[in-house]
Amino acid sequence: MREGRPPGSYGIDAPYVPAIFLALAALSIVLALLITASLFVTAGVFLACALSYLYATLRGKFVGWNRILNGWRGDPPSRLLDVGCGRGAVSVLVARHFPETEVVGLDLWRSRDQSGNSVEAAERNASEAGVEGRIAFETGDMAEMPFPDDSFDAITASISIQNVKDRELRRRVISEMLRVARPGARIAIVDIQYTAQYEADLEVLGADAVERKRLGPGLWFGTPFTAGTLVSAAAPASPVSADPAAGSAG
Ligand SMILES: C[S@@+](CC[C@H](N)C(=O)[O-])C[C@H]1O[C@@H](n2cnc3c(N)ncnc32)[C@H](O)[C@@H]1O
Repeated sequence: MREGRPPGSYGIDAPYVPAIFLALAALSIVLALLITASLFVTAGVFLACALSYLYATLRGKFVGWNRILNGWRGDPPSRLLDVGCGRGAVSVLVARHFPETEVVGLDLWRSRDQSGNSVEAAERNASEAGVEGRIAFETGDMAEMPFPDDSFDAITASISIQNVKDRELRRRVISEMLRVARPGARIAIVDIQYTAQYEADLEVLGADAVERKRLGPGLWFGTPFTAGTLVSAAAPASPVSADPAAGSAG
């Protein structure tokens, strides 16, 4: 199945970023009027960055994840975890894409990371999209997931792990993903930063078929230097220790 943005309201990721681009565009226009007209070019560049970012967060993210899900071969997952689900963009997309899949969204609902972020907003979106019966949203830290080992046969994370700023904690998130994943579970992470670290951590922790791929202009989040990148992998066939010291990447 292929679809666009599902019904609902999914907010803006890190809303301060496009606000900064717009403020810089406005400042450049003022300076262009006061000092030199050549600064209109600078204003245009900042405006283009803001528009690119808004496109990525409001539309490109959904197009990109639809492509990722369309590329999944074999049986659909029976139980999928969406790590840092926010208002449920990818959780809802997955539930609509795979009509038999049970989805769990995990988040701490930080409004700095997504505008209007709350469990109520996520539940409202699931309901508007008609998938509320197959999604459960849980409050918890992705670095200490409230799930037993071997709970999920697919895991997604969309622009979420990068919000964990501490390197060791990000390593722990990857380790936690592998702990709660069933052997062979699909893993798909899209982020702007730190994707080389995720790739290295997954490899060190024994994941199979680890690949990293830059996504297209629809997911540039403002500039080509802030492009969304997909890290995909399969969980190892044997169980993984939750101890992040087990790996030493990066
Ligand atoms: C930019 S939003 C992306 C949300 C969603 N995945 C999407 O694509 O729309 C990042 C999300 O990560 C969540 N987050 C940040 N740190 C977290 C943590 N340690 N544990 C769980 N969620 C976290 C934030 O609350 C936020 O909802």
